[in-house]
Amino acid sequence: FVPPGSGTGAGGIPAKDALGNDIMAKAYLDSKPVNDRSLAQGLKGDATYLIVKEDKTLETYGLNAVCTHLGCVVPWSAASNKFMCPCHGSQYAPDGAVVRGPAPLPLALAHCDVGEDGKIMFSPWTESDFRTGEKGWWN
Ligand code: FES
Repeated sequence: FVPPGSGTGAGGIPAKDALGNDIMAKAYLDSKPVNDRSLAQGLKGDATYLIVKEDKTLETYGLNAVCTHLGCVVPWSAASNKFMCPCHGSQYAPDGAVVRGPAPLPLALAHCDVGEDGKIMFSPWTESDFRTGEKGWWN
């Protein structure tokens, strides 16, 4: 499903905030510290982390926040520099790779770009998973 009038990327949709508004990249990046990982509404309505890089630009991937164990939404812990699932203790690295089970798989990826209109856009990640070198398990 692609909402009418959304962006430029093939199959892309705008990232939305908690109020359902499209997120504008410049204002977003101005409001966040480096290394920030905050949730937006992403593909299929899934909670997806936007990542602010060291240079204050947006990371080119977003991370689906759904734990690959049993589906809890995984919070980011800036203090621990990890995603830490409250349900059964799985932990993920800042790029979503598993560092502690029981989660069997890394957090799913989505492409993240800034559209011509300045909106943050998500689109499906169909390439291999750069963390494992294998096909993305979500495809
Ligand atoms: Fe996250 Fe079980 S749902 S560890």
